[in-house]
Amino acid sequence: MADVEALKREAGIEACKFVTNGMKVGLGTGSTVKHTVIELGRRMAEEGLEIIGVPTSLATEKLAIEVGIPLVELSQIDGLDIVIDGADEYDPNFQLIKGGGAALLREKIVAQESAGMVVVADDRKRVEKLGAFPLPIEVTPFSQEATVRKLSRLLDCRVNIRMAGNGPVITDNGNMIADAHTGPNITNPIDLESKILLIAGVVQVGLFNDMCDAVVLAGANGVETIINPNGRLN
Ligand code: A5P
Repeated sequence: MADVEALKREAGIEACKFVTNGMKVGLGTGSTVKHTVIELGRRMAEEGLEIIGVPTSLATEKLAIEVGIPLVELSQIDGLDIVIDGADEYDPNFQLIKGGGAALLREKIVAQESAGMVVVADDRKRVEKLGAFPLPIEVTPFSQEATVRKLSRLLDCRVNIRMAGNGPVITDNGNMIADAHTGPNITNPIDLESKILLIAGVVQVGLFNDMCDAVVLAGANGVETIINPNGRLN
């Protein structure tokens, strides 16, 4: 079996082909896209690539600074050319579950500001139906038990606040993550996203619908780039 870390690295580096001089690039979060960030830093240092980046988490901000990518805030620019990010699952319609790294809110804001979205992944992330990966939902800490109860009733499944040691995971935005164990049966992610967002205590949900334009997928037989026929990079 191919080493998963090697696959992540291959996908992360291959996706850099979408980045050209002068671009404003959204920098995703996670163990796959970290290889993209490192490679972009290398190209800047060794090949004269000039870009500016917007990070989707404090962890990515730190890494980008380390590898020498100049960063700006979204408020300083009018949109991004592209965002490259990881995913926890993607389905045949290029709909995604994201948020395994608790960065979904900033990731979604950056994705919405981008003219294209490229996902980097190893082939374990490809699924027929979304939901085997517990759906991450960012919730406000105020009365989070009530929000979790509402989510559990809506989704008809177990919903847990994500823990780290003895306390809850706190996101970069000071919120918590509720993981919904829906099972692999999310047939209509667009409808589900709007229903979840109607709950007042929900800040954002890790369903990324109609955002992904291409997936750079690494598997035992190499890396393939799958272009969404209905996407913006087609
Ligand atoms: C971060 O919140 C997530 O959306 C990640 O992009 C996603 O979990 C993929 O991460 P890995 O590349 O580490 O699997």
